[in-house]
Amino acid sequence: MKTPVMDALIKLKEEDSVSFHFPGHKGRDTNVDWKNLMPMIDTTETMGMDNLLEPTGIIKESQEEAARVFKTKYTIYSPNGSTGSNYIALSTVLKPGERVLIQRNCHKSIYNALILNNLDPVYIYPRFNEKYNATTGVSPEDVKRELELDQNIKAVVITSPNYYGICSDIEAIAKIVHEKDKILIVDEAHGPHLIFSDKYPKSAIESGADIVIHSTHKTLPSITQTSLLHICSDRIDYNKLRDRFQLYTTTSPSYLFTVSNEMATAYMEEEGRKRLDDMYDYILDVRKRLSEIEGVSILEKDEDDGTIFDLDILRILISVKSFRGSDLKKMLYEDYNIRMEMNDQYNVLAMCTVMNTEEDYEALIEAIKDIASKATDKDIKTVSINMPEAFLSLLPHEAYFSKKKIVKIEDSLGEVVATPIIPYPPGTPLLATGELMTPEILEHLKFLLENDINIVNLSEDKSSIVVVDSNE
Ligand SMILES: Cc1ncc(COP(=O)(O)O)c(C=O)c1O
Repeated sequence: MKTPVMDALIKLKEEDSVSFHFPGHKGRDTNVDWKNLMPMIDTTETMGMDNLLEPTGIIKESQEEAARVFKTKYTIYSPNGSTGSNYIALSTVLKPGERVLIQRNCHKSIYNALILNNLDPVYIYPRFNEKYNATTGVSPEDVKRELELDQNIKAVVITSPNYYGICSDIEAIAKIVHEKDKILIVDEAHGPHLIFSDKYPKSAIESGADIVIHSTHKTLPSITQTSLLHICSDRIDYNKLRDRFQLYTTTSPSYLFTVSNEMATAYMEEEGRKRLDDMYDYILDVRKRLSEIEGVSILEKDEDDGTIFDLDILRILISVKSFRGSDLKKMLYEDYNIRMEMNDQYNVLAMCTVMNTEEDYEALIEAIKDIASKATDKDIKTVSINMPEAFLSLLPHEAYFSKKKIVKIEDSLGEVVATPIIPYPPGTPLLATGELMTPEILEHLKFLLENDINIVNLSEDKSSIVVVDSNE
């Protein structure tokens, strides 16, 4: 048999690229002797070991240690990424049919959790920053307004930081949510490092959230798929959460994930915490040096604008005059052996962690300087990613499990979509499952297509969408 996956992994290792990409370990180790442990690391609930689903021994002790380090009431090593942790969190806090306030630009896993638990979402739109053409955070006033408008909302789900490192004011939001006696879940998949230093935005754990979800693998030295599920207040029933954890978790969880969550936490408690503190001024300097290059700009917290409450400086969003984001990402990889986390229309994103070295940043600065020296006066056409508001017509669960049909985009007015229509970037659904095609949305969809924006879930020829067949 051919082994294309192994072949690609060997090539990846040989390339030895500078990584501003997930996972957070960057292919470097944290003084753990993984190589010698490797043959035995994959074990199960044998003598002397423990059961992640019902821990009573070493895993229980380790999770208690993690709870101490993260300053939570309980911390659970979750082996199916923040995706799985989001499913568990929403099904703990909400019963089928209940109403939940959801940030409209949340991750796909939250949308999936709405379908899985048959929930009734009220969407809250994030703010939009004109200067950077970026959706930012949710305002506390908007949360307050929605909770006052609808007394039936049981819980609020906020994503902070977002992919670009932009944070919402979780402290203010938590206060509002708790005044109304509701539950706050924060998807902090992009911010597990925040609790380890006062120099960065305040973690949702310390800002009053009830449940916080972390993708350990994104910003800490931990392997892909590892996540932490934190209970931070007495409003959450631990036994119920454990029950939902069992519902969504394999009965054979890998020790590789468990020990990786443990060792990443142990690393951060000592060396990682110090590194995070120490690197702060250097990262500020990197950002300054990048922004001083002619034709280069990076996303910064814009005090005047007020749409960015706070920014994690470890996300560096870079644009270079006359280059598209996709060109930048390609050039950085092909010509400079630097892998960036992602690109949007105009920018590339560097995802920095405690495992990046000064050599990595110097290589990035040199490469950007070189690329910027080739900039021309060519203007890149700006397509605003600010989207019109959509209207929910059917619950996501109902639309998802309905009979479906395919219709041409031009004939879709008044139809209810059965699969989300997602412009990428930014990856936020223009229409989420169960929402209605209105004249405004249809116009916007055509505009995006005319401007060659990639849209997920259209037919291959980009002419049709999947909608609910109301004749069922
Ligand atoms: C905000 C957010 N939440 C959740 C997830 C899912 O995380 P994971 O890949 O750990 O399942 C992602 C993934 O990118 C994300 O960006």
